[in-house]
Amino acid sequence: MAQENPEAKTELDGIKKLKELREQSKLGGGEKRIAAQHEKGKKTARERIDALLDKGSFQELNGLMLNRHVDFGMDKDKVPGDGMVAGFGTINGRKVCVYAQDFTVMGGSFGEVAGQKAARVMDLAMDAGVPVIAINDGGGARIQEGIFSLYAFGEVFYRNVQCSGVIPQISVISGPCAGGAVYSPALTDFIIMTQGMGNMYITGPEVIKAVTHEIVDSETLGGANTHSSISGVAHFVGQTEEESFAIVRKILEYIPDNNASTPKVVATSDSPFRADKELDTLVPTDPNQTYDIRDVINRVVDTGSFFEIHANFATSAVVGFARLNGESVGISANNPASMAGTLEMNSSDKIARFVRFCDAFNIPVISFVDTPGFMPGTATEHNGIIRHGAKILYAYSEASVPKISVVTRKAYGGAYIVMGSKHLRADMCFAWPTAEIAVMGADGAVNILHGKALKEKTPEEAKAIRAELVAEYKEKFSNPYQAAGAGFIDEVILPHETRQRLIAALDILRNKQTTTPAKKHGNIPL
Ligand code: HXC
Repeated sequence: MAQENPEAKTELDGIKKLKELREQSKLGGGEKRIAAQHEKGKKTARERIDALLDKGSFQELNGLMLNRHVDFGMDKDKVPGDGMVAGFGTINGRKVCVYAQDFTVMGGSFGEVAGQKAARVMDLAMDAGVPVIAINDGGGARIQEGIFSLYAFGEVFYRNVQCSGVIPQISVISGPCAGGAVYSPALTDFIIMTQGMGNMYITGPEVIKAVTHEIVDSETLGGANTHSSISGVAHFVGQTEEESFAIVRKILEYIPDNNASTPKVVATSDSPFRADKELDTLVPTDPNQTYDIRDVINRVVDTGSFFEIHANFATSAVVGFARLNGESVGISANNPASMAGTLEMNSSDKIARFVRFCDAFNIPVISFVDTPGFMPGTATEHNGIIRHGAKILYAYSEASVPKISVVTRKAYGGAYIVMGSKHLRADMCFAWPTAEIAVMGADGAVNILHGKALKEKTPEEAKAIRAELVAEYKEKFSNPYQAAGAGFIDEVILPHETRQRLIAALDILRNKQTTTPAKKHGNIPL
């Protein structure tokens, strides 16, 4: 009769135990809560990670970590892995670290273990030099763990700042993100909110009602539309969870793994010499007529490559990624189709933050300029246009990546200087023949220079003289030739030459090197 080997039995028991623990960990808060999550139309944390990453690539870490708290009966219901799923995997073959709050475990609330697991993969992402993606769906600090949940958040916030500018950080908001929880996404580079699912607010509707008596629902307060169009907190909206993950994958296509690498160059069938003749007539001859700068961008960059960021926020500016001859570039532009392309507080913030992202991650910045200047008015002044406008100056001046600008029409006053002018060390500045590079528009200039004298004339006389003076000013200044004559514009180009000129400029600047004075860091006006 065969003798039973006691060691083999132990081994079998060990495997069984691990399988059970893994099963428990996978079930998170249990089948009932998973069903409740599905009933709300939401995926679980694990399903989200599977939907985001390449199939089968997820490598989980700390799946068996247990919380050590005992208050409020927490010792009785411990879930292996607690309320966080974390690890690493690939997206289109690119390595990434990822963590997702598990709403089925105490509402995805953020306790000590959640913080440690998130911190663990953030540290790994830094060591490995790969992007980190966070999927948020939780009730904020875990109340039962008291100060330990605050410690957990603090550790993550600190790491968000350490990672900033070293590895790309992307946040997906797939559920509630309340209280202090908002600040980790806020410190990351891009926030994608899922429509009807993601909410972000410091204090929810109940607290607001109690404190200020204001009645507001959570979507109006902090839903995807609110944050993508009014506050600017969110950069993108996904209509579904799948769409949110598709946006993450798309962002990654344009950006490098870390600040020491460059974005991948993609093969393109779009010829670098393609000359779109429509561009030559795209800018209306009447300076008061508008056109959409996105028509210009789309005709210049590799076909179909423009990927707009913050599309519904501060629409007088347009920012986004694109490709030129397969290379990733950042596009920063004024849009005459919205508020005539004027710069105000939000558009200043939008441009400055985007330029800084591009600079941090070695993505050249291409600027399309058509702005009459900063928005005048008490509202603008009182809301700090001076402070906000200064951010664009700072961002462009600080950026050491290749910077190329194209003035398509108006480049008046301070706005000319801030939007990637030579004076802020743009490497190459082009202007179209339709460009008007001047201190201000002709009408405004004539008013200031001749207003008093014109008041002394009869209305008919004043009208005729004003028309003459405006024509004289336009002849002198409302064109690119004074700037080109001074060397502030490198070349006045035909609009259809833009693509080819930009690609050649990028090519010569490929190995651009700059030095900045040694400093701890600058003090950007915030
Ligand atoms: C512990 C929590 C929790 C929390 C929710 N739960 N939030 N447990 N700590 N912060 C638990 C609930 O008790 C419940 O447990 C389960 O999660 C699901 O929650 P429900 O309320 O049933 O779900 P739902 O109706 O979908 O509402 C989700 C919610 C709501 C919107 C997130 O729970 C909520 O408003 N929670 C509090 C949000 C908040 O104010 N957080 C701020 C915390 S303070 P059971 O067992 O019943 O299923 C903070 C400061 C940090 O974050 C500062 C850092 C700088």
